Amino acid sequence: MPIYQATTSAPVNIACIKYWGKRDTKLILPTNSSLSVTLDQDHLRATTTSRADPSFEKDTLWLNGKEEVIADGGRLATCIREMKYLRSQLEQQKPDAPKLSTFPVHICSFNNFPTAAGLASSAAGFAALVASLAALYELPATPSELSRIARQGSGSACRSLFGGFVAWEMGSAPDGSDSLAIEIAPREHWPDIHALICVVSDDKKGTSSTSGMQRTVETSPLLQHRIGTVVPARMKAISDAIRARDFDTFASLTMQDSNQFHAVCLDTDPPIFYMNDVSRAIIAVITEYNRIALETTGKRKAAYTYDAGPNAVIYTPKENVREIVELIVRYFPQAEKFKDPFSLFGVAGVGEGKLP
Ligand code: DP6
Repeated sequence: MPIYQATTSAPVNIACIKYWGKRDTKLILPTNSSLSVTLDQDHLRATTTSRADPSFEKDTLWLNGKEEVIADGGRLATCIREMKYLRSQLEQQKPDAPKLSTFPVHICSFNNFPTAAGLASSAAGFAALVASLAALYELPATPSELSRIARQGSGSACRSLFGGFVAWEMGSAPDGSDSLAIEIAPREHWPDIHALICVVSDDKKGTSSTSGMQRTVETSPLLQHRIGTVVPARMKAISDAIRARDFDTFASLTMQDSNQFHAVCLDTDPPIFYMNDVSRAIIAVITEYNRIALETTGKRKAAYTYDAGPNAVIYTPKENVREIVELIVRYFPQAEKFKDPFSLFGVAGVGEGKLP
């Protein structure tokens, strides 16, 4: 009996223009477009193996060795169903192809970083899941097409199917067919940018992104201003800055958008706090660092950004990495887990997908 199995991995992405709010919670259609940078190194990835076999009883998934419930109609079930549907279409075109779409699948996924600590674990996880099923099923789908399915697992996951600088276009079609990820610029375009991850806490976060953003949609008046006016202009401006490799503008927009995302969280009823005192102290250090740089060179040297948790991601050109690490270690000598500088970028690999 042949073995039908594929392993792929997908990296984490960190948004510069944040996704926060859904207009359709079932299809995961966002209230605004967003833009992120995919981190390319080995330390922040999800690796997933999928196997199809007619002897399996049912679809089953293990995350970090623990079985997860695949609830009917839930996100996991939706992604698996959509991928099986694409495989069934391929089987119709190629009658000789094994009927993998009718076999149950076993899926095994590992994250090599803390789950749900604001380090975008669901993004890498669902991207790796979709990429591994695409490899298993030998689908000819493009990353943008797969991003439509990954989006239904976790919105931000759609952006992890590309390396480099990636936009998730919100789209307008009610069925979500045009809500997908596109590449703004590949990793090679601007390899000079690096990301420093400051793990302030790896505890599980208090308010999940999913429930937090829904509460924001329902209660925050500031969100309406953000999605209607602010984000559309920022998406264009940051895309232009990336294309022009203009770090000063990129940094300014990234920090403004992180600040506004946390402002809409505070504007939510009841309010949501993701940053803590250490997060805010890191903002103060980077602000002072940039103030001196602006005074001497007229340009910023670093940008902080925070997702739904207290951990800081600092983007900076390579030449400043050492200086910033020294600065952070000087001001936070107790920092247990300040990680080494990571280099950026990566492409979610669709590799090792072999059908005998
Ligand atoms: C703050 O993608 O985790 O990281 O679609 O409900 O799964 P769901 O939410 P999720 O939200 C990510 C929010 C964010 C910003 C971002 O990554 O754009």
